[in-house]
Amino acid sequence: MRIKRIKEVGSKLSITVEPKKPLNSDADQSEFERFLKPKVAAYLKAAGLDKAYERAEGDYLYYWKGDFEHKVTDFLGGYGVSLFGHNHPELTKVAVDALTNKKPFASQASIRSDAGRLAKRLAELLEKSTGVPYMATLANSGAEAVEAAIKHAVFEKQRAIKAILEAQAESFKKLRVRKENVVKENLTELYRQAASLLDVPDVKNLEHLSYVLQKHNEQVFSEQVCFFAVEGSFHGKSSGAIKLTSNQNFRAPWVDFGINVKFVKRNDLNSIEVMISDMARSYIAIDFDRFSGANLVVRPWSLVAGCFAEPIQGEGGIHELDIAFLQSLASVANHFDFPLIMDEIQSGMGRTGQFLASEASGVVADYYLFSKALGGGIAKTAALMIKQERYIEDFGYLHSSTFAEDDFSSLVALKALDLLEADNARLMQDCLDKGSYLKNSLEQLVQDYPTVFKEVRGRGLMLGLELLPQTTSKSRFLSMASEQSLLAYLICGYLLNVHHIRIAPTLSAELSLRIEPSAYISMAELDVLVSAFRDIGEKLKNHDSHVFVSYLVGEMQSVNKMQSFDEDVSRSSLKIENTKEVKETKTVIPNISNISKVACIAHFMDDLDLVRWDPYLAPLSGEACRAILEKTQGLLEPFLF
Ligand code: F0G
Repeated sequence: MRIKRIKEVGSKLSITVEPKKPLNSDADQSEFERFLKPKVAAYLKAAGLDKAYERAEGDYLYYWKGDFEHKVTDFLGGYGVSLFGHNHPELTKVAVDALTNKKPFASQASIRSDAGRLAKRLAELLEKSTGVPYMATLANSGAEAVEAAIKHAVFEKQRAIKAILEAQAESFKKLRVRKENVVKENLTELYRQAASLLDVPDVKNLEHLSYVLQKHNEQVFSEQVCFFAVEGSFHGKSSGAIKLTSNQNFRAPWVDFGINVKFVKRNDLNSIEVMISDMARSYIAIDFDRFSGANLVVRPWSLVAGCFAEPIQGEGGIHELDIAFLQSLASVANHFDFPLIMDEIQSGMGRTGQFLASEASGVVADYYLFSKALGGGIAKTAALMIKQERYIEDFGYLHSSTFAEDDFSSLVALKALDLLEADNARLMQDCLDKGSYLKNSLEQLVQDYPTVFKEVRGRGLMLGLELLPQTTSKSRFLSMASEQSLLAYLICGYLLNVHHIRIAPTLSAELSLRIEPSAYISMAELDVLVSAFRDIGEKLKNHDSHVFVSYLVGEMQSVNKMQSFDEDVSRSSLKIENTKEVKETKTVIPNISNISKVACIAHFMDDLDLVRWDPYLAPLSGEACRAILEKTQGLLEPFLF
């Protein structure tokens, strides 16, 4: 018999409808830690984010603790994947049907009609938004679509060079023929022009002209091309995409490897101008004029092979690119004939209220990238869409990927697009309406807690809430956590363990919390999120550090019952009186004549030390303090005290 279990956790009820505790969930966690991601697992554990979710449905994820299944509201949404929630029944039905109907999984080198239908559907949707026809290249992940875009853009550049060199060879052929037939052109004038343009003492004859011209142009065309990306961008972590990703920590080990990328300052038109002129070169071509004969002409050339932009930067902390900035990128791309590549992998698919987040700017890009929600949250798929007029057909066989274009993912993606367009695109409108409601509420929150929250950014259901650093908090623990970029992790751990809300900070903007729930999120859940943030506002305002760690050590208190202390009350007999009480373990006495500062290196010896250091931790038991010291061992940087 299946028993319903209910447990009160915080302000919510955690209900297990059919308790089917996985047999080995604890072992699974240690295997993840031991064989997959030891360091990540340690950080997750330290922040209380080390849950093993066993079930997901709609806006909820479920994990087991003891004999209870806990329900968590998902505001992280797989960083934009779960636009349709988890395991949407219409999407899972398509997946199940595909397997039941024995759809082929691997049928490469054949006509893949479902993939073809998906390509057509995406092209139609894009044409509806931009008025321009596109061709598709399908892939398995966001980064793979980015790699395909890099490759096609470089291919375009190469073809352009090839075309210029062929035209040049053709011009010389023409000149030689004319010379033999008594030249119409004034060759002497042409040689004089060449000597001055190419900065050589003189040009003697046609062969010499061909040699110096080719040498000049080859030098221009052999310079390494580059890509533009925008500061704060995130385009993935494969070897090409990582170079387009702004976060230096992600890129550092690979700086001397791969493509050349220049980062334009976000929303800075001047930066575009400076960068574009740095990359501007010119080559010399022969122009035939019916009246004046052959002339040398200087043509502009740019080393830029393509420019990537996310209309709303996601991993970079939810920053929207200004319309004027996007238009300026489009304008230089058009002038120098390199593709503007709009990365809609996170922002697209209706999350902001329109199919493309960039639609509002009126900019039509040369390439578009989609992934994440395209797979309906249950399939791994991606698409690179290229303007038909730029698409090079050879790319279709030069570029391939074993798992791309499979029936399974294509059918799921087609269904996801059905859901998106159903009922007059109701889902996109919901994203906009719910997003506006949530943004307004969060803006009020920012006003109410001006020392805790900085601002809200974004559009639709792609929002970011930026925290203010708490380095001047009266709680030394909070101040240290803030200095060590751990504040947002503490908050996310607290939200998860106390409020049962799943959210994550962005690795590239550690104070920005990303909010990307599904389009089906209820208004009531949005209110719950805002009131959870209000609770955080109160706790941080009151320097209540203990609440942000108590759940880590099994001293989690109910949301309602949690005490709040007045900062001026001497709450504990352990209140620190004198910093000398911190035990010194090692003292270095240097030659003081040439040293201006002296430091004592110390570490916490026992639980009392922790509370002496931060009296706001005093409500924790000794056992809890010891557990905290143990959990954070080796994870914290040394800090000044
Ligand atoms: N482009 C954008 C805009 C992204 O947000 C991501 C991934 C990618 C490309 C790469 O996609 O992971 O499938 O290879 N963003 C995640 C994030 C990881 O945290 O926002 P991928």
